[in-house]
Parts: sequence; C-alpha cells; structure tokens
Amino acid sequence: MTLVDLVVDIFERRGAESYLGEDVTMSEHMLQAAALAEADGADEALVIGALLHDIGHYADEFSAYSPTDVIDKRHEISGAAILEGLIDPRVVGAVRLHVAAKRYLCAVEPDYFSRLSAASVHTLELQGGPMTPDEVVEFESRDGALDAVRIRRWDEQAKVVGAKTPPLGHFLPSLRRVML
Ligand SMILES: [Fe+2]
Repeated sequence: MTLVDLVVDIFERRGAESYLGEDVTMSEHMLQAAALAEADGADEALVIGALLHDIGHYADEFSAYSPTDVIDKRHEISGAAILEGLIDPRVVGAVRLHVAAKRYLCAVEPDYFSRLSAASVHTLELQGGPMTPDEVVEFESRDGALDAVRIRRWDEQAKVVGAKTPPLGHFLPSLRRVML
C-alpha cells in the first residue's frame, strides 16, 4: 500500500468520526485545513501538511502506535513518524511541530488563546499550556517552525460546520508530487 492508498482508505473508513470534541468530522476538518491553505496561496508541501497534520490520530492503524501507550498520545509525534521517509521532510517537520505551534502562538499573541475552541483549550492544558519565554526562543530556532505556525492557524479555523471544500481527490495529485 502506498501513502496515497492509506490516506484514501482512512478517509473512507474513518473520516466520519468526530474531530475530538468539535462539531465537524475528521475528514471535514482535514479538508477544510487543506482548502484554507490553498486559498492562502500556500505551496503544495504546506497544503499537504495541512491535509495530513492530524494523521497521527490514526496511529493505531500504523506501526507507530503501541498498545502499551498510557499517556498523552502525542499525535504530532506519531503523525510525523507515520510520514517520515515517505514524504517531503518539510511536511514531516510541520506536522511534528503543529502542537508546539499552538503553545507558541498562545505565548506570543495575546489574543490567540481567546480564539481557541473549548476542545483546543482543553488539549492545550494537556500539552503543557502556553510556552515559556525560553521555549519560545527554542521553538523559533527549529526547522519548520514557520510552516507549523501557518498550519496551526488553518487548523484553528478548520472547524466550521457545513463549510464547502473540494473532495479528497482534489488534493491527491499534490500528495503524489510531495511524496519521496
Ligand atoms: Fe487539527
């Protein structure tokens, strides 16, 4: 199975699951994030990063998941592990940092926290809350930090009930082009 097959399969079988306490489904959330990236003029790698940023929520489908996991699932880490070696490293880096990017934005933009959904506020706490000043400096020095911040902004907006998006098929040619 290629990554394309896996993504299509996951959308078909599990896309209708709800997106972690939000009012949209997983597939609606992922497609909205990708569509927002495209509308914002993002390049293909970033559009695909937006599409796949939450693929780690399906880690139980992949070897990255261990049934002995008992703490915070760290879906950004398992997501990056799923994609590593299969896709442009920029996509991997952005997926890996998209949770840190929320903690970063809450630290550097005073009004960012107020724009989070209730579910996102809850997970922010589990993820460590807003970054400390030292963490902010460290984050800004990491490869892909800027990409992750852009994905994070689309992620936050990609929770609109009934928003129209292109279907998954629209994004598959881009996915193929950013695969290794
Ligand atoms: Fe997300």
